[in-house]
Amino acid sequence: MSKKSIRQVDLKGKRVFMRVDFNVPLQDGRITDPARIVASLPSINALIKQGAKLILASHLGKPKEAGDPSFSLKPVAQKLSQLLGKEVQFIATPDVVDESVRHAVSKMDEGDVILLENTRFLPGETKNDPETSELFASLADAFVNDAFGTAHRAHASTVGVPTLLPIALSGYLIEKELESFEKVLDNPKRPFVAILGGVKVSDKIKVIENLLPKVDKLLIGGAMAYTFFKAQGRKVGKSLVEDEQLDFARRMMELAKERGVELLLPVDTAGSAVFEDVPPVIVGQEDFPDDFNGMDIGPKTIEIFTDALDGAGSVVWNGPMGVFEMENYAKGTRAIAQKLATLEGDTIVGGGDSAAAIHQLGLEDKMTHVSTGGGASLELLEGKELPGIAILQDMS
Ligand code: 3PG
Repeated sequence: MSKKSIRQVDLKGKRVFMRVDFNVPLQDGRITDPARIVASLPSINALIKQGAKLILASHLGKPKEAGDPSFSLKPVAQKLSQLLGKEVQFIATPDVVDESVRHAVSKMDEGDVILLENTRFLPGETKNDPETSELFASLADAFVNDAFGTAHRAHASTVGVPTLLPIALSGYLIEKELESFEKVLDNPKRPFVAILGGVKVSDKIKVIENLLPKVDKLLIGGAMAYTFFKAQGRKVGKSLVEDEQLDFARRMMELAKERGVELLLPVDTAGSAVFEDVPPVIVGQEDFPDDFNGMDIGPKTIEIFTDALDGAGSVVWNGPMGVFEMENYAKGTRAIAQKLATLEGDTIVGGGDSAAAIHQLGLEDKMTHVSTGGGASLELLEGKELPGIAILQDMS
């Protein structure tokens, strides 16, 4: 059932506790990719325009100590203020909610924005502790969740607070993310192609099980392909393999055959004897050396995979084709991203590494949707309901 959103309810004059996912990558205190902040701007701007009093809350990383400055949301407050073109009041207390915060909230005018400090400075946050939820909820009259990236976590600020407030709505980002995934998962334009990559088959078991009956083609790259190679009796050299998933890989290959799904695996591999960013050697299926690490799909595979995408009605992509953080092994992942950019069909990119590749190449505008959630989008692809969304009010 769809969830009620800020589109349906007027929050003018209300103090709104809005959970956002500002868990952005930082290097030396600087934000290297502000995509998640940018993705929440439509909801933030809409609530400012409505005249809500906006109290924003987010986690950042996994701090071990309250107040650790390297996990402070201060750089995020600065960036947000710059993007909004208006002051965002940031209250840098390791207690997250204290008297200074209460005082600032009591002084808020309509359209004002406060950003709280990292919610994970409170140990009760990740435990969904009732007292922590009470603490957050005591600041506000209404709850809005726009943190798609954290919607798979049942934490105080994602599922505790909405149980304590009379209004619990989704923001535009959650609405957009759900619509994009539902469109391809429930009623895809065909042919429907899924591209899966990344390191481990074990991380993608439920995704493969959920997608296989829905897709027309399944392309498997990344290190997880080597487990499929081994299951086929092919050589893998020193490449990463999960021996405990060999039976699963065999079952899926059989299931694909039974259902008439075209399952494509790499036919050549780029790699090296050392697992380092050195120029690659390309090997075919038959001549995989014993001392060789597979680290990317090879040029023939790039051609086969990109050809397989021609004319696709819908594409879902999750997981890189190789070790794309190494320049020499980024070709396969980039080629997939560039191919998706040329397609007319719906292109949905899961968050995490594949989204990072799209951002690196500046191709986000060429995709139908680039998700802001890594773990959250994976759980949607597994067919799971996300707790941070389930808890929101249903559309009546
Ligand atoms: C993410 O980056 O996937 C989300 O912000 C969730 O972060 P977490 O994995 O630390 O809970």
